[in-house]
Amino acid sequence: MQGNAIHDVESLNQRFQKEPPQSLVAWGLEQFGRHISLACSLGMEDVALVHMLCSIDRTARIFVLDTGRLHESTYETMEALRSKYAIDFELYFPEAAAVEQLVREKGAYSFYQSVENRKQCCQIRKVAPLQRALQGAEAWFTGLRREQSQGRAETLLVERDDAHGGILKLNPLAYWSLTQLQQFIDENRIPLHPLHRRGYPSIGCEPCTRAVEPGEDLRAGRWWWELDNKECGLHTKS
Ligand code: ADX
Ligand code: SF4
Repeated sequence: MQGNAIHDVESLNQRFQKEPPQSLVAWGLEQFGRHISLACSLGMEDVALVHMLCSIDRTARIFVLDTGRLHESTYETMEALRSKYAIDFELYFPEAAAVEQLVREKGAYSFYQSVENRKQCCQIRKVAPLQRALQGAEAWFTGLRREQSQGRAETLLVERDDAHGGILKLNPLAYWSLTQLQQFIDENRIPLHPLHRRGYPSIGCEPCTRAVEPGEDLRAGRWWWELDNKECGLHTKS
């Protein structure tokens, strides 16, 4: 690891707050090369970031955590991006033995039964594969935005990610509004996940995501049966 002690997170935030997201994307790629990658869920933030990365370097690293429970249309979106930008996605699957044991013991829908069961499924299908995806990384890009939820309202452009060994976490879209994001996608004709046009502002696994009503929170359709703290563990602080 290059040692992120050399990166002053506070001054990086000050510097990039005055610049468009593309500047932080360019800085990340230049600084970390093959040791930075984009975590891509194929949602609207991430397709915008795929476009920004590919505008600079088509070989930039992009990974998808394939939980085994994604929507069919998520794979279609991946294919649309693959052919438009001629890129290879790195796919990370959950450990087969862990999924086999989970489903054998608790069935295919254990996540509806309790928050504990839901977190266990997310741990096996997302959080553990993320650890693998970030092995050897010095930094990663995500599509987190402040506007997405109260819990994300303090998201910074540059964060030290103590949950993953103190590497840097770059969130170039942290300050962008939904309108700015939609405009960027339209202007650049970026392939958009079809569920966004069907009332899904946030898209995760198929059994755990639904459309939201007008005026509802952007993440209200994620784990909609749970009352609060709707995070899967990909973005915990420590
Ligand atoms: S989640 O933690 O609730 O699943 P959300 O769907 O809002 O997160 O996505 C936030 C960011 O986490 C995305 O912009 C992306 O960087 C990363 N992310 C979420 N899901 C995946 C996935 N399946 N594969 C790769 N990255 C993901
Ligand atoms: Fe499992 Fe649902 Fe979490 Fe996907 S979002 S990993 S299906 S609990």
